[in-house]
Amino acid sequence: MAKLNFGGVEENVVTRDEFPLEKARQTLKNETIAVLGYGVQGPGQALNLRDNGFKVIVGQRKNSKTWEKALKDGWVEGETLFSIEEACERGTILQFLLSDAGQISIWPTVKSYLSEGKTLYFSHGFGITYKEKTGIIPPDNVDVILVAPKGSGTSLRRMFQQGKGLNSSFAVFKDATGKARDKAVALGIGVGSGYLFETTFQKEVFSDLTGERGTLMGALAGILEAQYNILRKKGHSPSESFNETVEELTESLILLVAENGMDWMYANCSTTAQRGALDWRHKFRKAVEPVFEELYESVATGKEAQRSIDTNSQPDYREKLEEELKELRDSEMWQAGAQVRKLRPQNN
Ligand SMILES: NC(=O)c1ccc[n+]([C@@H]2O[C@H](COP(=O)([O-])OP(=O)(O)OC[C@H]3O[C@@H](n4cnc5c(N)ncnc54)[C@H](OP(=O)(O)O)[C@@H]3O)[C@@H](O)[C@H]2O)c1
Repeated sequence: MAKLNFGGVEENVVTRDEFPLEKARQTLKNETIAVLGYGVQGPGQALNLRDNGFKVIVGQRKNSKTWEKALKDGWVEGETLFSIEEACERGTILQFLLSDAGQISIWPTVKSYLSEGKTLYFSHGFGITYKEKTGIIPPDNVDVILVAPKGSGTSLRRMFQQGKGLNSSFAVFKDATGKARDKAVALGIGVGSGYLFETTFQKEVFSDLTGERGTLMGALAGILEAQYNILRKKGHSPSESFNETVEELTESLILLVAENGMDWMYANCSTTAQRGALDWRHKFRKAVEPVFEELYESVATGKEAQRSIDTNSQPDYREKLEEELKELRDSEMWQAGAQVRKLRPQNN
């Protein structure tokens, strides 16, 4: 662990310097890692672990497009690709990477394979934190750990291939063997994380649900729509409204923020833009703070979890989701976006 200063607050974090890949391989040398589920996180983690030299198998239900995807990625039936049951039997570390709703329905099966000394691994605190709703209550004689990459499994894989790494949090819920923490860190390094910061299952799920409903996805879409709609109402063209709302953000400004922070992005804009942004940021913060309070409360009371469980376990969940995504895609703003993307010189 390294004690590092984050804006004046000291935190214990793990980097590849303290816990190199070789140490991770040593820590897990007798383990068979069974990645259960091959949706978005499954492929990212399984492929990175495999390429980093760990013993990995995949567990996926057959007669599914996802099974075909696993075959295409080079997993071999009967050698490295198995049914969920067989992977649970063969694995010593079971990486529970089904969708959160899928985890609830398959839990009785997975539980029956959790013999003493095995490890149950999550990439989300959801199942354990909301155990009254999910029924996921592991036996006492297994390690229960978490590594949660802070980004999509697709990015985890792409960044690994580019020699980069997504940051991840890690947590120990139950340390039955005395080695749970080392295993969590080793797996965090093995899946290709940037640096690892420690959390609890509860803190992970509270911050994660807040973040995705908030700035990362929900608030982001909402604020973009609000600005676009106002510009359109005031007579601006779709092209002008989209460029001033989305394209300039995603193609230019946010990349400068990622590189060197908000002040640096401001410093690289016009003085007129700087003055306005510095003044208006306070007004926007004050306007949305109450919404974030409401959101966090809704997460902490389990209301958000209940809503996810109720909707995502419906048999027609995917069709309904597709309808909602279609509505978003077909809206004028995002149709304008599709046209703008086509016109990017690199796409011509
Ligand atoms: N998405 C991300 O990038 C991301 C980021 C950080 C953390 N996480 C966490 O990682 C975990 C996995 O998330 P994910 O987004 O990768 O999940 P996902 O893509 O929705 O997972 C789909 C996988 O679950 C299987 N599955 C779903 N329901 C099933 C059932 N009833 N029986 C058997 N298999 C079932 C699917 O098989 P079929 O295709 O056959 O249905 C597929 O293999 C979650 O805990 C999530 O919160 C995800």
